[in-house]
Amino acid sequence: MINNSPIGFFDSGVGGLSVLSKFRELLPNENIIYYGDLKNLPYGNKSQAQIIGFSKKILDFFEKQNVKAVVIACNTSSALAYESVRDHYRFKLYPVLQTCAGVVSSLPIQKVGVFATEGTVKSEAYTRELTKNNSTIKVKEIACPNWVKIVENLEPGLDSESDIKLKLDEMLEFNPDKIILGCTHYPFLISTLTKYAPHNLFINPADIFAEYIKSDLEKNNLLNSSSSAGKEKFYVSANPEAFKAHAKIFYSINEEVNLI
Ligand code: DGL
Repeated sequence: MINNSPIGFFDSGVGGLSVLSKFRELLPNENIIYYGDLKNLPYGNKSQAQIIGFSKKILDFFEKQNVKAVVIACNTSSALAYESVRDHYRFKLYPVLQTCAGVVSSLPIQKVGVFATEGTVKSEAYTRELTKNNSTIKVKEIACPNWVKIVENLEPGLDSESDIKLKLDEMLEFNPDKIILGCTHYPFLISTLTKYAPHNLFINPADIFAEYIKSDLEKNNLLNSSSSAGKEKFYVSANPEAFKAHAKIFYSINEEVNLI
C-alpha cells in the first residue's frame, strides 16, 4: 500500500458525495474511488444482515482496487455494519457515525438530538457512541423516513416543509444543545431547518469527518504527497444515469459513471 493509492468512499447512493465534497476542500490531491449502491437504495429501511452483506461486498471491491483507506460515508452502514466488518480488512476504515459522535461527545454539552434513518435510530448507535466516553450526555434520536425522499424529490407530492417542521418541533421539545444531521442527505435541508431554529444548533457530520480524516491520514503518514489534483472514479451497482442526475445537487462529476 503506498501513499498515492486511492481512498474508497461509499454510500447507498449520492448522499455520500456531500461527504466527498467537504473532503475535497481539505484534500484536493487524494485519488478517490466512489461507490454508490443504488441497486440496494435506500439502506435506511433494510435489516442489519442486509446492510452487513452490502457493506462487505463493497469493501471486497475496494480491496481489489488496492485502496489505502475507506470512508464509510453512510450513517446507516456505519451504524449497522461497521462493528462486523472493522477487523476484516487491512486498509483503514473511517465510519462517519462513530467519528462524528466521538468528536461531539467531547464538546461541553449535555443534550444531543439526532435526526437519522429508521435503521440508524433503531440501532441506537448514536446514543451508544455519544455516551461511551461521557455517560452524562442525554440523547434523543428521531427517525425521519421521508427526508431522503424530499432531498431526492422522489415524492413531489409530499408536503416537505410540514414534515420537516413536525420532526423539528418534536426535537425542540427536548431542548437539545446540538442536533446532529445523522444522514448524508439531511444537511441539504438546512435552509428549511434554519427557518425554525438557529444555524449553530445543527451539526453536519461531514464537517467534523473531513477534518478528522485529514489529521488521521497525516498522523499515519498516509497523505498523498503528489501536488497534482487527485483522480476520481465513480462506480454504481445500478442506474448510472440517475446517479449522475441526482449527483448534481451534491457534487460536480466530470468523469464517466461506471456500472458494476
Ligand atoms: N446514506 C444514508 C445514511 O447516511 C441514507 C440514505 C438511505 O437510506 O439509503 O444513512
